[in-house]
Amino acid sequence: MSDLANARRWLSQARSVVALTGAGISAESGVPTFRDAHTGVWAKYDPMELATEQAFRAHPQRVWRWYMTRREMVAKVEPNAGHLALKAFELAHPGRLRVVTQNVDGLHQRAGQSEVIALHGDLMADKWLDAERSCCSMENLNQEEPPACRSCGNLLRPAVVWFGENLPLQALETAEILARSCSIMLVIGTSGVVYPAAGLARVAAQAGARVVCVNPEATELDSLAAACLRGPAAELLPQLLDMENEDD
Ligand code: OAD
Repeated sequence: MSDLANARRWLSQARSVVALTGAGISAESGVPTFRDAHTGVWAKYDPMELATEQAFRAHPQRVWRWYMTRREMVAKVEPNAGHLALKAFELAHPGRLRVVTQNVDGLHQRAGQSEVIALHGDLMADKWLDAERSCCSMENLNQEEPPACRSCGNLLRPAVVWFGENLPLQALETAEILARSCSIMLVIGTSGVVYPAAGLARVAAQAGARVVCVNPEATELDSLAAACLRGPAAELLPQLLDMENEDD
C-alpha cells in the first residue's frame, strides 16, 4: 500500500486529528516560506534585524514598515486548495480535526477553519510594545510609523511572536493537550526546526499518535513519521482528506 493510501486509512479510523501547519501550506497562495534557500524570507533578510524585540526597539520604523509590507502582501492572497481541504474535512467530520499553526497569515481562518490555534500570533493585529497604560487606546494614537500613544509614547507593534519571546500560553497549552491526545498528527509544510512548535510532533509521536508529514522536502521531523507524503500541500491535502473519494 502507498503512504497516501495508508494515511487515508489511518485518517478514516482516527478519532482525533491535529494538523500542525507551517509556512509551506501557504506557499501556493503566494506567501514565501522562511527557509527556502532561494525565495525564503530569511534568505533575504536577517531575522535578528526584523523579528526580535531588540530590533524593533532599535529601529522601530524600519521593522514596522517591513511588517506593513508583509501585511499588504498577505492581504492580496487567498487560501489555497490545502487550506480548503482541511476546512472541508472539518465540515465533513465535525469535532475531529483541530488546526495548530505557526503561520501568522490568517489563511486557515479565512478558509473558514474554526478555532485555529495560532502559536505565533497574528500578522494583521497590533499590540502595545510596553505594558498598556490607561492612556493607551486606539483613539489616542499619533500618525507616526509605528503609531504611538499620544500621551505616553508607548509604541504599537505587530502581534506576532518574535524570536526570544514566549508563545501565547493558552495556545501552547491547548496545542500540547491536543498533541498528547490525538490519534494522528499531520505535519504540513514546516521545516520542524523552530521550537516549541516542532516539539508538538514529538509529543504526539511519544503519546502513540501516527505522524504523517506532508512536504515536498525531507524535514527534521521525518524520523518520527509513520508516513511521509512528498509534494505540495495544495495537491496532496485534497487527495489525503477527501474521505468520499475511495479510488486509491
Ligand atoms: P520554514 O520556511 O522553516 O519551512 C517551510 C517548509 O515548507 C519547508 O520544509 C518546505 O520544504 C515546505 N514547503 C515548501 N513549499 C511547500 C508546499 N507547497 N507544500 C508543503 N510544504 C512546502 O517555515 P516554518 O516551518 O513554518 O516563526 O517556520 C517556522 C517558524 O520559523 C515560522 O513560524 C516563523 C519562522 O521564523 C517566527 O517568525 C517566530
